[in-house]
Amino acid sequence: MTETTTPTKSMDDIMALCKRRGFVYQASEIYGGINGFWDYGPLGAMLKKNLRDAWWTDCVMTGCNGKLGPDGKPVRLVPVDTCIIQNPKVWEASGHVAGFNDPMVDCRESKSRYRADHLKLLRATGEDEGRMFAFIEGDTKGFETALKKLGKYVKRDLGEGDTEVLELVGVDAEVLERVVGPHASETGTLTEPRAFNLMFKTYIGATATEDDVAYLRPETAQGIFTNFKNVVDTMRVKVPFGIAQIGKAFRNEVTPRNFTFRSREFEQMEIEFFCHADDAEAWYAFWRDWRMEWWQSLGLDGDNLILREHDRDELAHYAKEGAGTSDVEYRFPFTAPGFGELEGVAHRTEFDLRQHQEHAKTKLEYFDHERGEIAPNGQPKGERYLPHVIEPSAGLDRGVLAILCEAYTRDESRPSPELMKFHPRLAPIKAGVFPLVKKDGMPEKAAQLHAELSKRFGAHGLIETDEKQSIGKRYARMDEAGCPYCFTIDGETLTDQTVTVRDRDTGSQERIGIDKVPDYLDGKLGL
Ligand code: GAP
Repeated sequence: MTETTTPTKSMDDIMALCKRRGFVYQASEIYGGINGFWDYGPLGAMLKKNLRDAWWTDCVMTGCNGKLGPDGKPVRLVPVDTCIIQNPKVWEASGHVAGFNDPMVDCRESKSRYRADHLKLLRATGEDEGRMFAFIEGDTKGFETALKKLGKYVKRDLGEGDTEVLELVGVDAEVLERVVGPHASETGTLTEPRAFNLMFKTYIGATATEDDVAYLRPETAQGIFTNFKNVVDTMRVKVPFGIAQIGKAFRNEVTPRNFTFRSREFEQMEIEFFCHADDAEAWYAFWRDWRMEWWQSLGLDGDNLILREHDRDELAHYAKEGAGTSDVEYRFPFTAPGFGELEGVAHRTEFDLRQHQEHAKTKLEYFDHERGEIAPNGQPKGERYLPHVIEPSAGLDRGVLAILCEAYTRDESRPSPELMKFHPRLAPIKAGVFPLVKKDGMPEKAAQLHAELSKRFGAHGLIETDEKQSIGKRYARMDEAGCPYCFTIDGETLTDQTVTVRDRDTGSQERIGIDKVPDYLDGKLGL
């Protein structure tokens, strides 16, 4: 994430709407909350389910919606659902016990804890020996506070070019003595960065000794790798193929922040796609491009979404030198004008399978009948190898957050200016059915249509009905919830069997036959 300028949408407004309309609540709110944990309310749970279902259908069940792979064949994926707690040796083999660390800094004065790589230092230009004021990257208010403190310290107004920003990581202990922490008043209260393992520890069984330690999984991926052989042996799958999983992951983030963006409990949608090393580059390009297209198809199109190839120094421990790692990134209001990661697509090589093969002392090689030298009988002799892996790994909660931010719209020309422009496929409420007034048989007609639509579309979202308040207020409530279409039964319905359809985004209305409503909605929702 980079520095913040004035965002086009206010995160405070988005969070307030999320709370007010039941998308996202603070976890344990009645007890004062718990940092880094969020609950989804009814609309949020449905939105999340719709995004999860879209991924499941488009990636797993239809093999990338029937798109052919670089080999010209259909893309094959199978699902698994593995445990959150695994044998702790899994995390030794994967490198998480030794290497899944963030550098952490504590402030002795304010008792706050920070990710060292998120802290920046502000100092007056040319004052190399002077005080420096730390702020959290991307925190506009924090930056302004640091600037004010620095101005007071140097006793002058600071304009453009009067200040410079340094990284905290890499400064030595002597320099750290001159730093004022983001929430401190004195210098020298920040500790030196130290590694902090992000895995949540727990104990298995009643004795709870160090021998009973286990971890909550920090990624769903390892449950896929440890089952690779099981899937090959039981499913008649042939490399290239993928194994997919959706599930919770847990990371004891040093500084959870930005609403659900960096949480301590979150859900991942991961694919480990196994292929021969020679084909890895082509599959990497395939997945990178298709994953970007997929997010675009759900309404995250335009400038707010980018595909960014990683720099060399960003590569994870498993990523192949020279091979690709890309992120699909979204411009969240709190990262603007920069971007935050939604999904990573990485070439993990054969790293994980090799690690598990060595640690578990179990052969995980794949025998490929279609490769190898050609035998005298004209058939390939076969080749035994550890497949390479392309991993598209998406955050479901981050996806929901991006969808919420993208959908949030203020239209000051409307009596109620806030609306959520969800892609109809994702909208938690698919349609509203309203009697214009509570008499003349309109409620009964509305109830009939409501029942019919609920039966047909209920698997994908709610069909709402409501008789209270003016029709304008009912439309406004639906706009805020992101319901794309409302059908109103009025006086004309009773004579000519037509209803009004109101479009959320334009506010425009048209009339269609009441018997045409289910097919009309079906066409619009594109399910
Ligand atoms: N198996 C690879 C892996 O876990 P990652 O980049 O660490 O890679 C994948 O995580 C995705 O999971 C990220 O792109 C992000 O969307 C999501 N994610 C990671 N940490 C998260 C957190 N603390 N809160 C919410 N989502 C997170």
